[in-house]
Amino acid sequence: MTLTRVSADAADLAARAAEIVAAALGTALAERGRAVVVLAGGDTPRAAYARLAVLLRRGNLPLDGIDWLPGDERWVPVDHPDSNEGMIRRALLEPAGAPGRTLHSWLPAAGDPADCAARFGAALADGPLAAGPDLALLGIGADGHTASLFPDAVALLPGGRETPVGPDLPVDAVAVRRAALGPALDPSMAPGVRLTLTPKWLGMARCVAFLAAGSGKREALARALRGDRAVPAAWIRGTADTLFLVDRAAAGPGPDATGRDVRYA
Ligand code: 6PG
Repeated sequence: MTLTRVSADAADLAARAAEIVAAALGTALAERGRAVVVLAGGDTPRAAYARLAVLLRRGNLPLDGIDWLPGDERWVPVDHPDSNEGMIRRALLEPAGAPGRTLHSWLPAAGDPADCAARFGAALADGPLAAGPDLALLGIGADGHTASLFPDAVALLPGGRETPVGPDLPVDAVAVRRAALGPALDPSMAPGVRLTLTPKWLGMARCVAFLAAGSGKREALARALRGDRAVPAAWIRGTADTLFLVDRAAAGPGPDATGRDVRYA
């Protein structure tokens, strides 16, 4: 089922997203004693993590049964301000009281990015990760990217092979090089290089929840919702549910009243 939930503003969106993630964690932990969750970087997800940390701190979920995975990572050390791992630890794990060992690190910014991604991908085939994530929380960029699957990027495969980033990448995790360099990247690091899970593994998620806030995301969100294959966010859907958690500004004017669920086919 694909469902869009329109919140009044970014703060309400963060609260709703936190509630949905906490509920998904509770269901997975109750059913299997474990939960595998993919988390995005970015400001919109980070706001949800702060709310989620409060819910988890108050709740009585067995946090040591959760495997947290950054859905993508920048090619910087984890103590760099741009690190997604660092942001997730500061915004979520530490305030929630989750054991630091429950986050699976990409171990970025050492050696060759393609080999780094291949190692992370190999680890996904082991143990509780092999069945894929229970929930993948993903952001959407104004260009329609999600995780670090950018429309204009090249995938860097082991052995020096390169291929355009697309919905059919044959690996679970990959390094990518962006044509347009992000301004925040540390020039001392490999410029424009990111690490990302791919549609192959993200597509195993029982539930995928996209977060989008602000009018700048309106076009990308609309294209993702209608399945425009030029938009990477259209390449990923949950095996059971796909949620688009958006605020009024991103949803744009239309019949969907704020707060009401808009069910898409
Ligand atoms: C990253 C993210 C990226 C992000 C989107 C949305 O590493 O930056 O994984 O995919 O989720 O760009 O970010 P905002 O919510 O900050 O716009």
